[in-house]
Amino acid sequence: MANVVVVGLLWGDEAKGKVVDFLAEDADYVVRYNGGNNAGHTVVVDDQVYKFHTVPVGVLHPKVTAVVADGVVLDPQIFTGELNALKERGITPDRIKISGNAHVLLPYHRLIDSLEENSKGENKIGTTGRGIGPCYADKMSRTGIRMCEFVDPVRFRERLFSCIERKNAIITNIYGGEAIDAESVYEEYKVYAEQIRPYVTDTTKLLYEASKECAGIVFEGAHASLLDIDHGTYPFVTSSHCVAGGACIGTGVGPTMIDRVIGVVKAYATRVGEGPFPTELLDETGETIRRAGNEYGTTTGRPRRCGWFDSVAIKYTSAVNGASCVALTLLDVLDGMDTVKICTHYEIDGKKVRDFPTDVSVLAKATPVYEEMPGWKRDISEVKLFSDLPVEARNYLARLSELIETPICIVGVGKRRDQTIVLDSEMLEM
Ligand code: IMP
Repeated sequence: MANVVVVGLLWGDEAKGKVVDFLAEDADYVVRYNGGNNAGHTVVVDDQVYKFHTVPVGVLHPKVTAVVADGVVLDPQIFTGELNALKERGITPDRIKISGNAHVLLPYHRLIDSLEENSKGENKIGTTGRGIGPCYADKMSRTGIRMCEFVDPVRFRERLFSCIERKNAIITNIYGGEAIDAESVYEEYKVYAEQIRPYVTDTTKLLYEASKECAGIVFEGAHASLLDIDHGTYPFVTSSHCVAGGACIGTGVGPTMIDRVIGVVKAYATRVGEGPFPTELLDETGETIRRAGNEYGTTTGRPRRCGWFDSVAIKYTSAVNGASCVALTLLDVLDGMDTVKICTHYEIDGKKVRDFPTDVSVLAKATPVYEEMPGWKRDISEVKLFSDLPVEARNYLARLSELIETPICIVGVGKRRDQTIVLDSEMLEM
């Protein structure tokens, strides 16, 4: 069976959860490799809506083992809440495995995230306020607390008290904030640790052995390529490796073991938080897309910024991920449009540009240049075959694929699992 990475190609919220859920049907493992509960995946099964933040979407499938791997930062308060919510809905979480190497997100990370953002004024990043950046910063400066320590009460207590002492110096002296009480954090978090302990294991070994036994593994990318700490629109990014390569870094599975990469992108563009967004629509058309696509954050409820499909950005991210094909989602959102636009290139300082600039000061100067195509003005949400799509929709997809230099293998026309048109079934084989 295959090892497939599913990764977002823009700034997140591309409906990756739906694609992962689709593949998970035939998979043995679904693995989260980056990020934390700043991610939000919504999956609709038989009119039941499931919202995920840390738990891999694959948990909905009874034979799938859902893995939270090394590269994830895990907030125990949120995670135990998700476990309890799953249990209440009759889903047994015993198939969840958490890496002992994953880092623990603690209350001081959240507090420092908001204090840092507030201190930045106009230069704020627009973080989700979940403490993600400060937690990854601790990991990189080798002062973080990992799962293996967290579930050992003696080690956890020792590490927590020493970390909080240092953090309190920053919180009070630099930001004028209120110190955190280590004892009360310990009392609250040791209860979460008890609940989480049975799930913690050596996930690197688990996945290596699974690969040797030819299990089918789906790597569920969180956030998206332009939010990647190295390859995104820095500093308006998250703090993890969101691109497909992150699947190897964040799990310990070697690059030669990955068979395929599916890049997921919407039929239009969205972004939350700050940072340049060349095809953003600040007019009525942007509002129409937001309403039709219900473009409000799963995690924060924030309205998403909306715009036209940006082929310059997607050509770049498809290349950076080595995407084998693209899953194009939410095509039905454009059903009502008289015409649809695709950004074919930018103009920057009077020059035509087809290569995406990751220097945000250059990107901020980009003026999008559009090609306009006729819309299909028809409800496509129940179309099952590519050949049954209106010719205008087929032409739109063909032009996108040409511009991003990547074939399209799936088209999403609605939230439900069965609202999916498959163009290349080989790409979806597990
Ligand atoms: P952080 O990840 O909370 O530090 O936020 C950094 C930036 O990434 C902000 O602009 C967030 O809005 C954005 N971001 C983080 N996770 C997601 C996501 O899953 N979807 C969309 N944007 C996200």
